[in-house]
Amino acid sequence: QTVELELAAIEKGGFDHFMLKEIFEQPRSIADSMRGRVQAAEGYLQLGGLRDYMDQLANSQRIVIIGCGTSWHAGLVAEYIFEELARIPVEVEYASEFRYRNPIIKERDVVIAISQSGETADTLAAIELAKAKGATIFGVCNVVGSSIARATHAGAYTHAGPEIGVASTKAFTAQVTVLTLMALAAAERKGTISNSLLRQLLAEMDSIPAKVEKVLESAAKIREIAQIFTYARNFIYLGRGMNFPVALEGALKLKEISYIHAEGYPAAEMKHGPIALIDEDMPVVVIATKDSSYEKVVSNIQEVKARKGRVIAITTEGDKHLPDMVDFVIEIPKVHEVLLPLISVIPLQILAYDIAVMRGRNVDQPRNLAKSVTVE
Ligand code: G6P
Repeated sequence: QTVELELAAIEKGGFDHFMLKEIFEQPRSIADSMRGRVQAAEGYLQLGGLRDYMDQLANSQRIVIIGCGTSWHAGLVAEYIFEELARIPVEVEYASEFRYRNPIIKERDVVIAISQSGETADTLAAIELAKAKGATIFGVCNVVGSSIARATHAGAYTHAGPEIGVASTKAFTAQVTVLTLMALAAAERKGTISNSLLRQLLAEMDSIPAKVEKVLESAAKIREIAQIFTYARNFIYLGRGMNFPVALEGALKLKEISYIHAEGYPAAEMKHGPIALIDEDMPVVVIATKDSSYEKVVSNIQEVKARKGRVIAITTEGDKHLPDMVDFVIEIPKVHEVLLPLISVIPLQILAYDIAVMRGRNVDQPRNLAKSVTVE
């Protein structure tokens, strides 16, 4: 018994939970997912597993991204990045919905299946369906040799290392990293990105691990904020553009492990419903970084404050304006807009973790959830 307990403690590397350990591993897992694929200084980008299929990707008429849970959120981030950089129309589908209708798949369609475990039953079945209809299938998996990795034509692994916590953290940022590289490679091949922007983005990607490290330094501050909100029964998460999927992911993390009801919304949609929920008891997490939607998000914050909602804002460091408007601020380093989700999701993971721990939840194995869902 004691030996087992000690073993478990060693596996957690000094952290109280696997989830926290995995959150803190992200500088490394992101770097590992780029290793050998990017040489920023030379403007070099190569995904070995896609080499023979790059033309299919770059010349595809449409990309359909499928996944479940957090992997589906990574797909939503990828939709923005692919459309912005490679100018290929993207649809993101829940694997379970995709497979149970009669989806329209044409030969020049590419399907990208995202799965940490590589074993999710719905995702695997969706792949088989798309394959039968003649699509080229790419996989973004974390587990080498997994069923999904084997079922695809080509793919690029994430190198996040084993993820034990049921709530996915480092797998998400590794997926977004790899999908960003895929979008950049497709854009380069298609000629939809200038050489200077490509080099700039590769250099910025190189700096992501250090920037994530910087966010992790705010963990103590985030814990203080978490303490104030352990009472909450509901949470709203708002973001726009690239940060909308991050809002969804932040809400999912909180509900999975703390059992607090949380909803993610595109900030501008708030007025079409969720605004009715806002009062002095409603915490609202707003991702309000200095990007192209900043001004709009600021006015969404004003709408929340006018109804006495309590706002926790994720801001870009040096923002002098927002701290006066909101209740709490968590600063993150500045980064190119396309790469924002890799940074902005980190404080939301920590916030969810802290609230769940303070509520005495089993964060690594939340009730009713499984790490990999191999049933339909
Ligand atoms: C389960 C896990 C989630 C995960 C989802 C998809 O619901 O609890 O954390 O995001 O499955 O899993 P996959 O392995 O396909 O990424």
